[in-house]
Amino acid sequence: MSNNYLSITDRRTEKTYRIDIVDDCIRATDLRQIKVRPDDFGMMSYDPAYMNTAACSSSITYIDGENSILRYRGYPIEELAEKSTFLECAYLLIYGELPTAEQLDHWTSRIMRHTYIHENLTQIIESFRYDAHPMGILISSVAAMSTFHPEARNVDDAEAREKQIWRILGKLPTIAAFAYRVRIGRPHNYPDISRGYAGNFLYMLDYMNERDYEVAPALSRALDVLFLLHADHEQNCSTATMRAVGSTQVDPYSAVAAASAALFGPLHGGANEAVLRMLEQIGSVSAIPEYVERVKNGEMRLMGFGHRIYTSYDPRASIIKKVAYDVFEVTGSNQLIDIALELERIALEDEYFVSHRLYPNVDFYSGIILQAMRFPTDMFPVLFAIPRAAGWLAQWIEMLDDPAQKIARPRQVYTGYEQRPYVPVEERASA
Ligand code: CMC
Repeated sequence: MSNNYLSITDRRTEKTYRIDIVDDCIRATDLRQIKVRPDDFGMMSYDPAYMNTAACSSSITYIDGENSILRYRGYPIEELAEKSTFLECAYLLIYGELPTAEQLDHWTSRIMRHTYIHENLTQIIESFRYDAHPMGILISSVAAMSTFHPEARNVDDAEAREKQIWRILGKLPTIAAFAYRVRIGRPHNYPDISRGYAGNFLYMLDYMNERDYEVAPALSRALDVLFLLHADHEQNCSTATMRAVGSTQVDPYSAVAAASAALFGPLHGGANEAVLRMLEQIGSVSAIPEYVERVKNGEMRLMGFGHRIYTSYDPRASIIKKVAYDVFEVTGSNQLIDIALELERIALEDEYFVSHRLYPNVDFYSGIILQAMRFPTDMFPVLFAIPRAAGWLAQWIEMLDDPAQKIARPRQVYTGYEQRPYVPVEERASA
């Protein structure tokens, strides 16, 4: 008989229970058999912020945070960043295998053909105030897309799902570019699908009727690599949101809008924006030691440092650092890079950061690259959301097809009052 189980003795009752171990996990529901009285609810595990709870099994992305390993469907991120493209990785994440040349061609053309957005959606984007945060526009526009494509609610229909995936991946850059153009008071550039995914996006943002306009290949490649590196990262907050909201069987636009809202937070997709503000606030290399002291005193966090999963260098950060120099060759250097490099050097030697195992994460250098490419700071989370949609959609499909999944519904430990009688307002003591 296998010894692959826990034997738990409840000292309250002296009863012993067998809890099976599968994939190095126990099932939280197996704890429910542990009771003091037969009518007890049974034992639960308490895990705020899901620090040690696997809510799904997944074969999409593998992370070994101790050893700086990140793989999409088994392929190391370093190899993909060097040899692949964002769209090929999106296919890999969603379908599980690298596409053949024919499959890649079909996939690319489907997505690029769906880059045009409905004129009514353009009007919605134009109706925001001139200073609206582009992430707010993106979240609202994606939610609005569910009203344009009601068949998206057929989440069990494989063909309908695939079509929404093309639409979401195709239209997100256009929504982002249109939001940007509204902000700067310039007319929209309609998609030019011959320029490729990242190239078309840069074109829609930038083109101003120049003769012989070309996007610098180094910049579109750099953006494509940034997209590829951000495409998936297993069960991060926005992906967990996508799965939780998608588990209600709502259409993917509503679920992507919810995931995008999760990504907007400064501890998640808003971090590269926060890194840049931090570097600007530090202002000079000489001001770094004092800033680091304030971080150590708990006054603030060093943005772009630390990760729930990586307790060593984030492998994406190393790749991004190299991409930064390719971008600077075209754009000229960014003065903040000197502050970032020195900050990283000091932090990596400092006892506080070493003992807390705090290393640069993906956002530490990405903001500097995006600033050098002249993206306004508040576009940064949008540039994270566009590629992460590929991961969200891959995880959404996996969740829908997983017979073990049901509507997400965590438990709570109730710590409030027992039943008490209602007190009429005139009898309540004044505050
Ligand atoms: N600067 C200074 N101290 C930190 C930092 C930081 N960036 N991050 C964590 N710590 C300290 C924290 O104060 C705590 O110390 P102590 O145990 O002495 O109280 C300890 O490290 C553990 O922190 P935690 O908040 O329990 O760790 P977490 O796993 O909940 O947080 C994190 C992960 C990414 C939210 C956090 O490291 C952080 O706030 N980093 C800055 C924001 C950032 O760069 N976010 C981008 C993450 S990567 C992109 C993404 O996944 O979205």
